[in-house]
Amino acid sequence: MRALVAYHTLYGNTERIARALGAGLGTAGIETVMAKVDDVVVGSLERYDLVCIGGPTHYRTASEAMQSFLDSLAGASLSGKAAMAFDTRRDAPLAGGAAGHIESVLRKCGMLIVRRAQSGIMLEPELSRKKEDFIDKAEWKEWRHKNERLQEGEEVEFELTGFQVGRKLMGCSFPPWGTNMPIPVLSQGAD
Ligand SMILES: Cc1cc2nc3c(=O)[nH]c(=O)nc-3n(C[C@H](O)[C@H](O)[C@H](O)COP(=O)(O)O)c2cc1C
Repeated sequence: MRALVAYHTLYGNTERIARALGAGLGTAGIETVMAKVDDVVVGSLERYDLVCIGGPTHYRTASEAMQSFLDSLAGASLSGKAAMAFDTRRDAPLAGGAAGHIESVLRKCGMLIVRRAQSGIMLEPELSRKKEDFIDKAEWKEWRHKNERLQEGEEVEFELTGFQVGRKLMGCSFPPWGTNMPIPVLSQGAD
């Protein structure tokens, strides 16, 4: 059983949860490859049984790099493959999220969502500098993005998710995908 965890990251936080997810899959016995979306050759996706895709939330949705990667999936033959989406985002009312969009594209490609999209929550930086210390709003915003950090425990959560998803998939008598067998949909927190 082979899995690909493909991600986009600007400041390294999505990479951290992607690696934790991959580590969990590996512990469950799944041969797992990590790759930045820019390095993924779309034709190679056919080699994997499970494809997990995640990236940061930019302007309430997926980042530009992720959007163009998702656009490139249109020509790939992915129907019936297991898939999962994830993102990093703030836990705020208007924060939006990239994972919902990623998941809907994966569904449109005919992939089977084996675990509900999961978010790694980002925390605002400590206000060690005052807004007035910045040249302008753009500089302030950049500083703020650079200094956000993952909420404690997110990597552990993602590693656990990887392990649970991997264990369930390893328990399946493959290939159930594409047949009339019921699809095992894993709920969050399932053992
Ligand atoms: C241009 C830009 C726009 C952003 N817009 C949002 C947003 O709409 N909602 C949100 O929750 N976070 C937003 N963020 C914060 C990102 O979610 C955060 O930088 C990202 O999750 C960190 O992941 P990374 O370290 O992998 O790049 C934005 C960040 C950048 C750089």
